[in-house]
This record gives sequence, C-alpha cells and structure tokens, in this order.
Amino acid sequence: MRSTQLSLEKYDSDKISSGYLARYDVFFESWIDKPVKLLELGIHRGGSLLLWHDYFVAGTVAGIDIKLPSNFGPVDRIHLYEGSQTDTQFLSHVSHQVAPEGFDIIIDDASHLGEFTRVSFWHLFDNHLKPGGLYVIEDWGTGYWSDWPDGKTISSRSRPLFRAGSMLSNVLTKVLPKRSLSSHSAGMVGFIKQLVDEQAATDVTRGSWKGKPTRSSKFSEITIAPSMVFVRKAQ
Ligand SMILES: C[S@@+](CC[C@H](N)C(=O)[O-])C[C@H]1O[C@@H](n2cnc3c(N)ncnc32)[C@H](O)[C@@H]1O
Repeated sequence: MRSTQLSLEKYDSDKISSGYLARYDVFFESWIDKPVKLLELGIHRGGSLLLWHDYFVAGTVAGIDIKLPSNFGPVDRIHLYEGSQTDTQFLSHVSHQVAPEGFDIIIDDASHLGEFTRVSFWHLFDNHLKPGGLYVIEDWGTGYWSDWPDGKTISSRSRPLFRAGSMLSNVLTKVLPKRSLSSHSAGMVGFIKQLVDEQAATDVTRGSWKGKPTRSSKFSEITIAPSMVFVRKAQ
C-alpha cells in the first residue's frame, strides 16, 4: 500500500479525497520500485503529477493539458506538455519524447467527455501503451449526469418488455427488477460499453455457438469500478 507511506495532505489532487488511491495501490503494486513511465491526461494544478513522482521513486511522469498551470516549477522526472487529448499527432509527439518504447501506465483525468476520451484511448492504447500496460479512465460516471455536456440520466420509468397481462409478462414481472434495463449507447457510458465489447472480441467475432472467433481481445482484463475503469493491454 504505497499511498499509506506518503504524506497525502501535500498533494493538491482530488484523487485523495475521492478515495481513488486505494484502488490505484492494488493495480500499481508491481511497478512501485521500477523505472515506470506514466502519462496523465489532465494536469490542472499539477497535484497528481507530484503525487505520482513521489509514488514511483524511479519513475518518469508526463502530463498533458489544454492549459498548463502557470506556477508549476521545473521538477526532475516530470514533463509537462500543452495540447488537447484529441490531438493524436500531439499525443504521439509527447509519447516519442518521453516513452519511445511505450508507457507502462496511462491515466485519463482530462475532459471526461465520451468522444474525447475515446479518441485518446484508442490512439494511445494502440500505439503508445506497452503490452501488459495499464490504461485508467477516471470519472466515467459523469456520463449519467444530466448537467454534464454529454451526460444523460437513466430514466426511472420502466418500459414493459412484454404485453401486460400475458403469461410471460406475469412470470417476468415477478423475477425482473422494477426498473427494466435502460441503455446509454452514447457519451462516456456508451464508450465504456464499447470497451466491454472489445473485451468480448472472441465471442463478438465468433457470432454463434458454432462460429469460429477471428480474433481475440486487445485487452487481457477490464475492471469497471465506481468512477474508475482499468484496462490491461494484452501481452
Ligand atoms: C480534473 S482536472 C485534472 C486533475 C489532475 N489530474 C489532478 O488529479 O490533480 C482536468 C483537467 O483536464 C483539462 N482538460 C479538459 N479538457 C481537456 C482536453 N480536451 N485536453 C487536455 N486537457 C483537458 C482541464 O484543463 C483540467 O486541467
């Protein structure tokens, strides 16, 4: 539990108050003393970059933001770049400079918009994350908020799946929860659901019980936790 060895009050990042570090501790354990290369999208005042700098004592930390903090002094092992998470040329430039062999860890804590997150995810995941590397998407639950630019609440009205009064309907209303499945196919939640499809690539491309898969998933595992998604790249 690396985070318990640090004086967390020093770091100006909501990763601490939101309790994210306890989850990071589990995923980051094998990298603690290694010369890890970490990229974070979204710097704000730079608190999390300083946190990762101290968390990984032999690590190199890079951050990108559309607007860099004005008072973040030069710090050994920390690199800052100004640009958008949707600018794939810019992302490749940063990656070639800091981690030409690929990043071990990439964290997206930038816009929390589904389309922006999708663009940076696939570009960085495919081209600049090492095999076995970890890609983390923070705050994906914004996609359920009515006041988030691409968010949407889930309707609490249940839509009957079957004609009321039919025998099937009578049976199903007993076993199904009150609120039948609603769906977000767009925004941040829609994007996370696309990641679930990618994890299922073997079954998606197999198509039927007797079908033959044409490819396996690019992911070895995906963990969907409250506010955080962890995707491990296949070896
Ligand atoms: C939640 S803050 C980052 C907090 C920081 N990671 C921490 O834990 O201290 C989000 C940051 O993302 C940046 N941002 C928003 N949209 C962006 C985009 N399209 N590309 C790059 N950065 C973006 C904002 O300027 C803001 O500084």
